[in-house]
Amino acid sequence: MNIQHVTVVGAGTMGNGIAHVFAQAGRPVTLVDQSKELLAAGVETIEKNLGRQLEKEKITQEEHDQTLGRVARRIDLAGGAAEADLVVEAVTEQESVKKEVFRALDEHAPSEAILASNTSSISITWLGAQTERAGRVVGMHFFNPVPVMSLVEIVRGLETTDAVYDTVEGLAEDLGKDPVEVADFPGFVSNRILMPMINEAIFCLMEGVADAEDIDTVMTLGMNHPMGPLTLADFIGLDVCLSIMEVLHTQLGDDKYRPCPLLRQKVTAGHLGRKSGQGFFRYG
Ligand code: CAA
Repeated sequence: MNIQHVTVVGAGTMGNGIAHVFAQAGRPVTLVDQSKELLAAGVETIEKNLGRQLEKEKITQEEHDQTLGRVARRIDLAGGAAEADLVVEAVTEQESVKKEVFRALDEHAPSEAILASNTSSISITWLGAQTERAGRVVGMHFFNPVPVMSLVEIVRGLETTDAVYDTVEGLAEDLGKDPVEVADFPGFVSNRILMPMINEAIFCLMEGVADAEDIDTVMTLGMNHPMGPLTLADFIGLDVCLSIMEVLHTQLGDDKYRPCPLLRQKVTAGHLGRKSGQGFFRYG
């Protein structure tokens, strides 16, 4: 399957990063979101991150300009998906929203198009079941910041065909990424391991084992992690962390995945991490 035109639904942190790497790999990209303002913010972030790459001499001015020039914007999903060979969905991590998007994509994207989701924990089999093309639905789970992180988890739903899997794996390699095949179980591999670690760090904070800075210092200096777990939770978004823990807890049915009450409290208070200016730490 030859994938040329890529549509990315959702211009937030993950969506604009995904659009960035596809455009940089020479694919025409249509970025879709609900308003001109959200699209403008997404493209502004792509421009800022391309600017960093230019400054570090990782790309030339010509590559910078060509990459930006490959990103078109649409506020209507139907029009945005009409030309797609591949759609990557990167909307908010809520089943009801993703269900609506997948139903609309199934209606409006060409029948041969592959529908991929960047979901961090929602079942690919379930997303496929919302469509009439479950064999062409697959997970393509990128990591933040997308232009920097080389991993892509490629998630096989129960119905995903081998041809679709192979196409998406080859495409990830074309982007310069390192794809890993994972089965469709809650949290896949990445969040099955990462989120309980973050959740445990929050329990340590709640129980007064150490303060937030010291917990992070233990993990950065003691385990050589680039960011401590509380800084990383703020970076990912505490609402996203909570929703992933809830998926693990509900779907694996084991209390070892219960979300820490302090995580719930932070989300209730609107302290969502970097994006809201405050989480376990404060941001300027
Ligand atoms: N776009 C392009 N380049 C970027 C960038 C971006 N958004 N962010 C950082 N960079 C580049 C910098 O320019 C820099 O380039 P050089 O190596 O050429 O100098 C490099 O990345 C490192 O950045 P910095 O020097 O600014 O900062 P740093 O060394 O502290 O690294 C970091 C920043 C890469 C984010 C690092 O702290 C890190 O790896 N943190 C962990 C990130 C992580 O775990 N991500 C996964 C989160 S989980 C997820 O996304 C999925 C999920 O389902 C929840």
